Amino acid sequence: MAGGGILTHGGAGKDYPGNLTRYVLITCIVAAMGGLIFGYDLGISGGVTSMAPFLRKFFPSVYRKEAVDSSTNQYCKFNSQILTLFTSSLYLAALVASFFASMVTQNLGRKISMFLGGLIFLCGALLNALAQNISMLIIGRILLGIGVGFATQSVPLFVSEMAPHKYRGALNVCFQLCITVGILVANLVNYGTNMIKGNWGWRLSLGGAAVPAVLMVLSSLWVSETPNFLIGRGNYSLAKRKLQRIRGVDVDVQAEYDDLVAASEALKQVKHPWSNLKMRKHRPQLVLAILIPFFQQLTGINVVMFYAPELFKTIGFGSNASLVSSAITGGVNVAATFLSIYGTDRWGRKKLFIGGGIVMLVFQSAVAALIGTKFGFSGDATELGKSYSGVVVSCICLFVAAFACSWGPLGWLVPSEIFPLEIRSAGQSIVVAVNMLSTFVIAQGFLVALCFAKYLLFVAFAVCVLVMTLFVIFFVPETMNIPIEEISRVWRTHWYWKRYVDEDDNGARISPIEMI
Ligand code: BGC
Repeated sequence: MAGGGILTHGGAGKDYPGNLTRYVLITCIVAAMGGLIFGYDLGISGGVTSMAPFLRKFFPSVYRKEAVDSSTNQYCKFNSQILTLFTSSLYLAALVASFFASMVTQNLGRKISMFLGGLIFLCGALLNALAQNISMLIIGRILLGIGVGFATQSVPLFVSEMAPHKYRGALNVCFQLCITVGILVANLVNYGTNMIKGNWGWRLSLGGAAVPAVLMVLSSLWVSETPNFLIGRGNYSLAKRKLQRIRGVDVDVQAEYDDLVAASEALKQVKHPWSNLKMRKHRPQLVLAILIPFFQQLTGINVVMFYAPELFKTIGFGSNASLVSSAITGGVNVAATFLSIYGTDRWGRKKLFIGGGIVMLVFQSAVAALIGTKFGFSGDATELGKSYSGVVVSCICLFVAAFACSWGPLGWLVPSEIFPLEIRSAGQSIVVAVNMLSTFVIAQGFLVALCFAKYLLFVAFAVCVLVMTLFVIFFVPETMNIPIEEISRVWRTHWYWKRYVDEDDNGARISPIEMI
């Protein structure tokens, strides 16, 4: 079938044959390595910016102010917007880069996008590790952001196109698994380098990003282009051979191949994917591409990822607080992602979204209540006591676990599989841009918002989780087990979205004949 949200020949309910071949398994796992660079960065910068030698060298005034900060108010810690901006500038760079990445992915291929992402990230890592002054640090940071923008734009899309539809969920979640592994490794690296004598441990932390970058470069050289892209470039016979190799030698790929060709024909009609995105028939995809990554960040997950060490210190952990907290939350984050790998193609995206949402709601509310009960509005320090701290930590871990098997992976998977080919690349850029912008706002605004709203901030996150769970129940269709170029059929049977795909831009009904 063609894309464009229009069901074409063949009708609904197609089920292309395809095995989980060793080739496709390795290809997708290798591509998912792109998640490592994103995860490593999410995990590394918070730790580095709290290292005294790093602060003394690049942010001496912040270092001096932090040293004299004697506030006992747990909600209003010293907070430098400039220092936070250093961390979160990466997300702004990634946001801008995702639009360029879209053009590269669409015109030059998914492979080139992944390769460029890894290479640029590598340059950023080296520049940061060798930084002598703040300019080197910031240019390095921007390069890292560009790398992340390219990786998050191209990898989920690549995997969604490569994977047989029955395993698309599980293979795509490997991307999220790599993000979580990257975060965990970065936290452990920070703990180790912080103990290095001689004031240069931070260089190792920042330079360590070169390892996932090299892995990504090598991976991108090894994987082959997706049949979807090859057909778009007119390489029909190569595309067919690739498809055969990907799906298995004994599989009849003709039907899937024909549909990919049809989707590619639709792609050729599209001169401006960006303006096509605005068309009424693409409204469901556009709304989901904006709201899913936005909601993913409104769960408050990055408050835990960025501020866990501070949070755990506040509730009574001692000097090893950073390692303990990052090891616990990071480990839970990785482990729970496996549940999603197992469940996404068996139980469906919606069940995981809703189940995870309910568990997050319960434990986010519990954290708000526990913090509110002890610190009240004043935020004055009180000893929490071992068992009370233990309960808070357990609630945070259960919250992280619920995120890791629902909104974490699905926040990337679902948007990557809902767009028709002709606007897939542009659509994925929107997803990345919204995700990065929301991450930037959370990173930059959390400490200020906490000082202002106190424990009610956690109540606000809980309310957001409730709203997004309701949104999933009513507006997110199930996409499990549907071939990617067949996805448009889910809108046509959806109680709300069908009115968009059944009408043209002027609101006139499209007759079933026109849809064919
Ligand atoms: C999110 C990140 C988050 C990570 C935690 C990802 O899906 O996009 O913002 O830090 O999950 O594992």
